[in-house]
Amino acid sequence: MARIPRQTIDHILSMADIVDVISPYVELKQRGRNFFGLCPFHPEKTPSFSASQDKQIYYCFGCGNGGNVISFLMEFEKIEFVEAVRKLGDQYNIQVNFDQKDDDKEFFTGLYEIHTLALELYRKNLKSSMGKKVVKYLHDRGMSDETLTSFSVGYAGSDWDQLYNSVPSKKFDNEVIEKCGLFSKTEKSNYVDRFRDRIIFPIRNIAGKVIAFGGRDFSGESDAKYLNSPETPIYNKRRILYGLHESLTEIRKKKSIILVEGYTDLLQLWQNGIKNITATSGTAFTKDHVNIVAKYTDTVQIAFDGDTAGRKATVRAGYLLLQGGITPEIVPIPKDSDPDSWLQDEGPEPFEKAVKNPVNLIPFHIDNCDHDLKKPSGRSALAKDMAEGISQISDGVIQRFTLKGAAEALDVEEEVFMQIMAKGRRSFRGAPKSPEKVKSMAPSSSSEKAQMEIVKLFASGDPETIGFLKINIDPTRFTHLTLKKLAEHCLNNIDKNDTLDISKVVELFEEEAERKFAAKLLFEAAPHQNYQQIAIDCIITMERSPLREQISEKRLELKELEKKGEDTSSALMEVVKLQQELKSLKSKKLALLDS
Ligand code: CTP
Ligand code: MN
Repeated sequence: MARIPRQTIDHILSMADIVDVISPYVELKQRGRNFFGLCPFHPEKTPSFSASQDKQIYYCFGCGNGGNVISFLMEFEKIEFVEAVRKLGDQYNIQVNFDQKDDDKEFFTGLYEIHTLALELYRKNLKSSMGKKVVKYLHDRGMSDETLTSFSVGYAGSDWDQLYNSVPSKKFDNEVIEKCGLFSKTEKSNYVDRFRDRIIFPIRNIAGKVIAFGGRDFSGESDAKYLNSPETPIYNKRRILYGLHESLTEIRKKKSIILVEGYTDLLQLWQNGIKNITATSGTAFTKDHVNIVAKYTDTVQIAFDGDTAGRKATVRAGYLLLQGGITPEIVPIPKDSDPDSWLQDEGPEPFEKAVKNPVNLIPFHIDNCDHDLKKPSGRSALAKDMAEGISQISDGVIQRFTLKGAAEALDVEEEVFMQIMAKGRRSFRGAPKSPEKVKSMAPSSSSEKAQMEIVKLFASGDPETIGFLKINIDPTRFTHLTLKKLAEHCLNNIDKNDTLDISKVVELFEEEAERKFAAKLLFEAAPHQNYQQIAIDCIITMERSPLREQISEKRLELKELEKKGEDTSSALMEVVKLQQELKSLKSKKLALLDS
């Protein structure tokens, strides 16, 4: 897999000018330090779209879109990352080559090889004595040895570091170990295996290479039934469908695909001879998935779990498929079942019958919506939901046809439906989905607010402040995940003059909602008078508020104990200890002020 070298991207980011890049598309006017214009991403009459030349990022205060020159082009032109980088390369006369350097090749080869090595170990484990109980469990769930072999199912033992210890240390670069997603770092910076005491389902790309693993808890003690590989340079969840490599021949033959949720659903169907299948396995069905299945078929049968979540996901996936020009057919699964359990209980016949008599999206949506359809307002709300889905269907014929079906099913004139769509179009298209997600990332405690302020200080552009943060900020203490990443990215990108290229920091967020959140914070950061004082206050707050929470929790515990007449001495000791820690923060503050 070729990639554009990091240096090229950095080079482009440092050469391109945000105002220069945006100007052909948006009329920008300077006001103070920033530039403003009408947002190209949502309809508006007064400008809330702004660009900062100092920070080389843009942000819209109206719809929450934000990012750097690359993401602007990607979003405006609806193009992929590589194309956006190429365009900028052309504009600024920077050659964009794909990385064919040996060390890069080695890096990717290393990632594939380490997955192969892990696969072999997990499979060996399953066959060894430690795997006996696991095999029995899988057999009890009705899976045959043949099925387990076909999908290379394995077992990660309960040791902390079985895999890590079996990796020949000289063979792999540290970067491979770090980025492969098979290990996590402990506080002491040691590596431990990510997957422990789990049944392992290897995830292959279309070509059949193992690029990730899904691990099902076997201990019964873990909070997470499934733990999967994180995103890595070779594993992009939005673009991978489980089992596709194995099922491709059958899919090509049948020219149709059955889409299920889980690994076990897929294995169970396969074992029963139903082999034109693939699974979303833990990620929401995406537009990228639609594009993948569209290469092989124009009809997808959705056989998600019968529970409420599964039915909701079915409606969502159904509209996404339609929008991409594919006919969704829904295989209704009984309420408390999934394909796996249904086949185990009743054999393949009822499922096969359901596949032959699928339900269309519109009636399925009607039967599974949250609205009270006895009320006119409920029907209206459903009509709006449908109109939103239908309005984004790009194929005119499919759109017309679906619209007709929806109008008939709701017993309204087609014209009425079209009016809803016309009225809604602006708000559907323009209605930015991300501010809600961004909102849900809003800091929720005083400690998190302090973490946010610290991140903003990184964008101050003041070398003295940045130098101070470099020494005194420990990102591992951040509790807010995105803020933690932001702090880490900021710290990693400080150059030797204690300055920071904000657009590079934004570039490191691949997830759209996170990128927008990052752009918002960094954009908003305004110059202050006394940075250092603010930084110190934030550091202290970050440490103080969790201590205070612990103290008040302990006090409640104490009260309970007193009520019950039980021994309170150890709880008291703990309160005292926490209070001492709280006090010591004062001297820490003084020390920081002195520094
Ligand atoms: N999944 C996940 N992480 C979770 C829960 C689910 O990645 N915490 C994914 C897995 O790929 C799983 C699928 O979503 O196979 C469907 O989830 P669920 O129906 O809960 O699991 P089953 O596949 O039915 O697994 P099992 O039969 O072992 O309970
Ligand atoms: Mn399930």
